[in-house]
Amino acid sequence: MTTERTYAMIKPDAVAAGHVGEIVAAIEASGLKIRALELMHLTPAQARGFYRVHVEKPFFPLLLEFMTSGPVVAMVLEGSAAITRWRALMGPTDPSRAEPEALRARFGTDITRNAVHGSDAHDTADEEIAYMFGGRFLDGLV
Ligand code: RTP
Ligand code: MG
Repeated sequence: MTTERTYAMIKPDAVAAGHVGEIVAAIEASGLKIRALELMHLTPAQARGFYRVHVEKPFFPLLLEFMTSGPVVAMVLEGSAAITRWRALMGPTDPSRAEPEALRARFGTDITRNAVHGSDAHDTADEEIAYMFGGRFLDGLV
């Protein structure tokens, strides 16, 4: 199987609650490789751009407020089927619907404050990596 990259993010709730180490440990235990990792505090413009497909959704104002409420950990993960493997580790959007071992069940609070993000397809993974890491990743500097 070909190696794939995905964009992963530890959201402000999980960073504030001190769960970065446990989430990174789960990624490493899964066999996915961390190729880039950076703590950053998104501006409203950055968060709006990142979640631009959701701008018209009723939950968008809440999502924007949440994603700018504190720092996030931005990562590029790599491995075979990395996109689906990372989504499986996260669990579904709503933590109350996740299996107990899923990261969103372990560290999420509700459908907005759900601890982690993962790209949902190849094209969005490429877009999100470029959006968050820009030329630094694509040029091989990260
Ligand atoms: P993500 O993009 O963050 O990995 O999450 P996802 O694919 O599982 O879910 P998506 O539909 O893309 O939604 C993006 C994020 O918006 C917030 N949300 N709130 N209150 C609500 O009904 C609601 N629905 C979505 C969540 O933070 C979700 O992860
Ligand atoms: Mg999504």
